Amino acid sequence: MKTKSAGMSIHKTVRKVTTHVLNAMKLKGEKIAMLTAYDYSIARILDEAEIDVILVGDSASNVMAGFDTTLPITLDNMIYHAASVVRGVKRALVVVDLPFGTYQGNSKEALVSSIRIMKETGASAVKLEGGQQVVESIERILSAGIPVMGHLGLTPQAIHKFGTYIVRAQEEEEARKLMEDARLLEKTGCFAIVLEKIPAKLAEEVTNTVKIPIIGIGAGPKTDGQVLVLHDMLGITQEFSPRFLRRYHNLHDEIKGAVQNYINDVRTLKFPNEKEQY
Ligand code: KIV
Repeated sequence: MKTKSAGMSIHKTVRKVTTHVLNAMKLKGEKIAMLTAYDYSIARILDEAEIDVILVGDSASNVMAGFDTTLPITLDNMIYHAASVVRGVKRALVVVDLPFGTYQGNSKEALVSSIRIMKETGASAVKLEGGQQVVESIERILSAGIPVMGHLGLTPQAIHKFGTYIVRAQEEEEARKLMEDARLLEKTGCFAIVLEKIPAKLAEEVTNTVKIPIIGIGAGPKTDGQVLVLHDMLGITQEFSPRFLRRYHNLHDEIKGAVQNYINDVRTLKFPNEKEQY
């Protein structure tokens, strides 16, 4: 049962966010804020703003590397991004996506990949996509003391299986399977689950059924927290506009405008001026 706001907010009192803190936030009914980051400078800003969780998402494959899907990004690429992020973070919990092909179907490889992430980046947890089909991998990773975040609903690493990015689990059968998978991930020992692009009502039901925190993206307002891809919410990416995305800025135009001003100043000899030289 949720105990609403007895005393000070948890997020205001903690100096370091851990998986236990997220659990306590769920218990207290305090929403969890999560964003993606892929580099040191941005991670520092997010951490200073007191974001609870930073996800080094394999969405780096799209927004950092320019691929159409999340499939091409490698474990080495993810480790590079994650180690950079961790160097910029003091407070937030840093979670790293296990990229496609590093955990499915082979639990030993899942463990080796996760150990590399933990050793080489200093992150605190890994995330992987899927339910019952990846339980063996999750068990093995957990056996090494590595916290695991699950990811259900729209799972972009399986895009070639589904063929589209439409809302998932709209039919009863898929919704039932998703609920079963969420229960299974909780029972297996995941500390939290991301639910992506599913009906708000189903997300609410899952949130009320399992005890671990549920973080939604396109899953309505009733989950325990929300996550967005930073480049999308800051308006750096322009072409991606799903209904669930709220843009908090139009950095694409701001950056472009600043760069155009710079180019103009260089071309017209306005930069550098007398004070900007030695
Ligand atoms: O890779 C990613 O950014 C993600 C979020 C969309 C949850 O998995």
